[in-house]
Amino acid sequence: MSAEPHFKRRPGVWKMLMAAVCVALLSGLQAQDHPGQVSIILLGATGDLARKYLWQGLFHLYLEEVGKGHHFRFHGTALTSTEQGQEAIAKVLESLSCPGDMASGHCAELKAQFQQLSEYRRLKTPEDYLALSKDIEAQVEHEGLRETGRIFYLSVPPFAYVDIARNINSSCRPGASAWLRVVLEKPFGHDLHSAQQLAAELGSFFREEEMYRVDHYLGKQVVAQILPFRDQNRAALDGLWNRHHVERVEIVMKETLDAEGRTSFYEEYGVIRDVLQNHLTEVLTLVAMELPVNTSSPEAVLQHKLQAFQALRGLQRHSAVLGQYQAYSGQVRRELQKPDNFHSLTPTFAGILVHIDNLRWEGVPFILMSGKALDERVSYVRILFKNQAFCVQSEKHWVAAQSRCLPRQIIFYIGHGELDSPAVLVSRNLFRPTLPSASWKEVEGQPGLRLFGLPLSDYYAYSPVREQDAYSLLISHIFHCRKDSFVTTENLLASWVFWTPLLDSLAHEVPRFYPGGAENGQLLDFEFSGSHLSFSQLLPEQLVPGPDSAPLPSDFQVLTAKYRDSPLISAWPEELIARLAGDIEAAAVRAVRRFGEFHLALSGGSSPVALFQQLAAGHYSFPWAHTHLWLVDERCVPLWDPESNFQGLQTHLLQHVRVPHYNVHPMPVHRRQRLCAEEDQGAQAYAEEISALVTNGSFDLVLLGMGTDGHTASLFPQSPAGLDGEQLVVLTTSPSSPHQRMSLSLPLINRARKVAVLVMGRMKREIAMLVSRVGHEPKKWPISGVLPDSGQLVWYMDYDAFLG
Ligand code: BG6
Repeated sequence: MSAEPHFKRRPGVWKMLMAAVCVALLSGLQAQDHPGQVSIILLGATGDLARKYLWQGLFHLYLEEVGKGHHFRFHGTALTSTEQGQEAIAKVLESLSCPGDMASGHCAELKAQFQQLSEYRRLKTPEDYLALSKDIEAQVEHEGLRETGRIFYLSVPPFAYVDIARNINSSCRPGASAWLRVVLEKPFGHDLHSAQQLAAELGSFFREEEMYRVDHYLGKQVVAQILPFRDQNRAALDGLWNRHHVERVEIVMKETLDAEGRTSFYEEYGVIRDVLQNHLTEVLTLVAMELPVNTSSPEAVLQHKLQAFQALRGLQRHSAVLGQYQAYSGQVRRELQKPDNFHSLTPTFAGILVHIDNLRWEGVPFILMSGKALDERVSYVRILFKNQAFCVQSEKHWVAAQSRCLPRQIIFYIGHGELDSPAVLVSRNLFRPTLPSASWKEVEGQPGLRLFGLPLSDYYAYSPVREQDAYSLLISHIFHCRKDSFVTTENLLASWVFWTPLLDSLAHEVPRFYPGGAENGQLLDFEFSGSHLSFSQLLPEQLVPGPDSAPLPSDFQVLTAKYRDSPLISAWPEELIARLAGDIEAAAVRAVRRFGEFHLALSGGSSPVALFQQLAAGHYSFPWAHTHLWLVDERCVPLWDPESNFQGLQTHLLQHVRVPHYNVHPMPVHRRQRLCAEEDQGAQAYAEEISALVTNGSFDLVLLGMGTDGHTASLFPQSPAGLDGEQLVVLTTSPSSPHQRMSLSLPLINRARKVAVLVMGRMKREIAMLVSRVGHEPKKWPISGVLPDSGQLVWYMDYDAFLG
């Protein structure tokens, strides 16, 4: 029998239903005549995770729930023989411990009960699953109980998931009146595609509400406290938790251990997949999401979390810095029997800069960082607030609770580090936080201890009254249907949607090598500027080029020459872009001085992106308030489509500068819900707008590119539209998708005061050579028709395009 994944189409419905079912099942328990039994089946019961955490977590659940009307049975299972398995499990059960405040006699009694209720069995074949199911049914009946539910905890490698899922679904589901919960451990895929595949396979066996994907960070006490903390301190945080007050957020997991012994896993995953895609991203969403009115509603929390994912700005190659500890490749060679010349590119360290595109967080850097073989083991989230205060009294008179000049921060100290315990810290000059007094206590002073630049005494600091391990908390949450402590399919895929493009773009990136531990010094420090992240320190070999080292860009000067009888400026890309940006700014300043405004028409595509970024980041005197921005051409897609030229302009330039919105003139390719329909007269409308605002239709500057086929703007070879005639704006057809385009015509382009053609990259080498030799043949090479009537034409080519 295969479970019908009907609810997948109506996620909201299943969530509500799930909550209702959960509550009904739990609260209805005592009301029944027969007490209910929950069977917990731990697969991989002799493995590492089970031995270290899961059995203890199950025992903890038993201690919490026994006597509340539930009966339990625990089935440890694995593929090993019954004898070996029994032996291994007996050892683990013997080592279980009770909370420190439980009387030892009571502990021994409960431990003996738990041992009695736990058994080992081999679970391998479909028959084994069927036999398990029958045994549970028989035992429940024999003891006069009623079956409440079954929890299958899969602590097994992911390749085993699907087979196990099939067996549970076909032979081991409980009867209709009992529930099924299946718990899964990461990794849940390797990228979006594999995650989708795995999710689809699991979805064919289980309903969404039956699956509990574990991210053990969600069970860490401090992480689990982030939302309650935000909720209980709403009054103080409402005004603070936003871009006006938060300077930056740091989400960090540093480790001293390396990957030795785990390289077969680690080689496949690396630090981003191992830690950032899951643990740190989960934490990020808890900090960034809008707080639901009711934070104890799992559906509301999950929904808001999903919205936070959707607001994450896509990552670029330059959003990341990567490192690898030096011993790593040697470990891989040894453990995976690789040849001596094998060098791994797998990163063991990553720093990532994340931005969130919503009103709350726009412009606030979220820094995610994790690495193996670092100088200390610690995990935390640090929210650093802006500080606009100026204190007149000298520093020695500053008082922690009063001075506005001391750093203001909130730290969710997840664990380890100098404090060596989980804690929530709030700078005393912010506010006194509220935490549930039954479970959190003030941290006792530790003289001399400084954290994040302040003595511990400068914080209101709280730690849990009773430290609890993440798995114990999560197992309890599985039992109580707290779905918000787990990763739903929707949220999992949203996370992979976010990370996969970056992972793809970094696949061949060489990480920076670091010695490991304290010796790392400042080698891994990084810094950001705009949306770029880079290591703060240049590598020594980059600073001191040897006699044979390749020339650096700075070894070359900007070259000026002629190309097609017009001035040519050639340089390495960085200088070329800087020069072009400078020339555009100079033209803008001149035009505004003379006419009060500057009309700039910009092309789309990839070449101008660096130019837009340069203009956005480094040109503080640009007269944006008096600049009109026009499009040279547009793809016939909605303006919010990533393929839209306007979207590129928006992402890389407009959102960073202050151009009055009435000065921004996107091409009207999307009128009456249609794309570039002739009868909608979009081209005519744009032409009219130009005629109305641009004197003589003469742009101050038109930025063009040159395609490998000789096209420019969206004027293509062998396609007559827009090459001559009266029309200022035309609809054209591109040989590549999206085919429909809107473009300024050649006659309009040639009315400009200045035309700049930007040509970059080796791919353009051939066409650049060809066009240098051809005459005026716009039908074959539209770019050859660019010849301003009375304005100036300047070519900007990088060395790759010009010299090859
Ligand atoms: C695991 C990763 O998920 O988390 C490990 O696979 C990492 O590589 C571990 O060491 C860290 O967890 P914790 O609880 O020790 O911070």
